[in-house]
Amino acid sequence: MNARLSSPATARNREPILEVLRRVLPADARVLELASGAGEHAVYFAAALPGVRWRPSDPDAAARASIAAWIDAEGAGNIAPPLAIDVSADDWGVTDEAPFDAFVAINMIHISPWEATLGLMAGAGRLLRAGGVLFTYGPYMRDGRHTAPSNAGFDASLKARDSRWGVRDVADVVRAAGDNGLALDEIVEMPANNLSLVFTKRAER
Ligand SMILES: C[S@@+](CC[C@H](N)C(=O)[O-])C[C@H]1O[C@@H](n2cnc3c(N)ncnc32)[C@H](O)[C@@H]1O
Repeated sequence: MNARLSSPATARNREPILEVLRRVLPADARVLELASGAGEHAVYFAAALPGVRWRPSDPDAAARASIAAWIDAEGAGNIAPPLAIDVSADDWGVTDEAPFDAFVAINMIHISPWEATLGLMAGAGRLLRAGGVLFTYGPYMRDGRHTAPSNAGFDASLKARDSRWGVRDVADVVRAAGDNGLALDEIVEMPANNLSLVFTKRAER
């Protein structure tokens, strides 16, 4: 059986995301990816960024099976097996590998309860080195408004699937990050009304 899952959205967004990652990640970064999903991004980014060491993760067993299958099929030497990390948990079981130089979380913040974002930020506060980077990508509201009608529709469809999900406001995400010692460096406008948010962990907490 082929466990490798694939999505057309990944085929469309991986190159624009890679362009930002190339710029904001240190060339030799030890990266922890949260909510890796299918794992297509992970193998693509690891292959394109040969100096980094990429650790994918997802709490979902089918996702981890897909990530492992992608690594078996196409994985470069710099990608590690997937871990089971629920970002809402207090302990992610990665203390041995910490501190990381960077966290990457693509399309997670809107497709999980708000507690997951709080957990992501708390984890970044605990496990990123000072000066480390947190990269998030997805649709966001700005100043209380959707950035496009299609995002408003998407937000409604997310909430219909799970009332705890939804497109978040950048300001709320920035506040949660700030509470954990992370400062917003950059907002990058991405195709299809998505944003990349780039945070840096401050030296002093
Ligand atoms: C829409 S998928 C995104 C997957 C991939 N990053 C992408 O862009 O294709 C959302 C992912 O978030 C993961 N997720 C949901 N809640 C989570 C949590 N509390 N901690 C970590 N990951 C979570 C899900 O298992 C799922 O794989």
